[in-house]
Amino acid sequence: MTTKKKRIGILTAGGDCPGLNAAIRGIGKTAIVEHGMEVIGFVSGYTGLIHKEYVKLNEEQLSGILTLGGTILGTSREKPFKISQEDGNINKPELIKQNYDELGLDCLICIGGNGTMKTAWKIGELGINVIGIPKTIDNDVYGTEFTFGFDSAVAIATDAMDRLHTTANSHQRAMVIEVMGHDAGWIALHAGMAGGGDIILIPEIGYNSKAICKKIEKRFEDKKAYSIVVVAEGIKVPKNYSAAGYIAKCITKNTGIETRETRLGYIQRGGSPTHTDRILATRYGAYAAEMIAQERYGEMVAIEGNKLKTIPLSEVSGKLKLVTLDNPLVVKCKNMGVSFGD
Ligand code: F6P
Repeated sequence: MTTKKKRIGILTAGGDCPGLNAAIRGIGKTAIVEHGMEVIGFVSGYTGLIHKEYVKLNEEQLSGILTLGGTILGTSREKPFKISQEDGNINKPELIKQNYDELGLDCLICIGGNGTMKTAWKIGELGINVIGIPKTIDNDVYGTEFTFGFDSAVAIATDAMDRLHTTANSHQRAMVIEVMGHDAGWIALHAGMAGGGDIILIPEIGYNSKAICKKIEKRFEDKKAYSIVVVAEGIKVPKNYSAAGYIAKCITKNTGIETRETRLGYIQRGGSPTHTDRILATRYGAYAAEMIAQERYGEMVAIEGNKLKTIPLSEVSGKLKLVTLDNPLVVKCKNMGVSFGD
């Protein structure tokens, strides 16, 4: 008896990050070389799945993309289960199921962050075989220790902080650097430790501007020439202010110390992945292909203690992984005199 050659679809959804192409390559090469599967990639995330826009991925398309930033498939923030006026009578979930069946797919791999995992779970509920792979620079996907993209973003933020140290020192200034992270402060925490931040402000820990200013004044009194403050974009600030803008303004106003702000923005999401992200994305991708070979569906690939594992998408859906006060990095930083503004 001959078994039918499996046909799988891949999509990348949500904000991009370094490592997406490494993951696509990891899935594709394992699926094709090891298991003789056929692979297609949907264009622009869930948009391509709804409109049946896809490209065939063979070994040729998967070559030379390991180090490439962004995603060769494109991405979008399309949420097919959200009903909007503009969609008229289009039933997106119905189209997704129809396209999946018409294309003769055996599984759909959704690479993305929290929103993507929630949608992947809902797609699974339509009777589609689905697997999730967690990516985001924010590292806030529930159920895994690390998402790929995070290490690259932390490396970029750390490099930026290293550069701020020298200019801050020359001018004896306070420098406020804003990194991404609307809900979770993982980038700020890790870059804050790696880049020697004096104050780290994250959305999970409420800050007191008086405590921040006191800490900065004390440093200057102690003949520390300058101070570095790293803030996550999602900390609470008054309307119309950026996180860095508000904190810089508070410091100047209350201490009289010259302060400058830097907002790193999308630089954190661009460019080539670090070797750590290349490896993680490749391992996630290859593992997902193995799961398809074993016909294990409805789960997200995850990592814990450097060991790959899976977690049901139903458990991941709708949750966030946030920094907690007892996080070892928070504790270590605090023990070394780093302030969290609390
Ligand atoms: O990828 C996650 C993230 O980078 C957030 O930290 C950031 O605020 C958000 O995406 C912004 O992305 P976009 O402008 O593409 O929606």
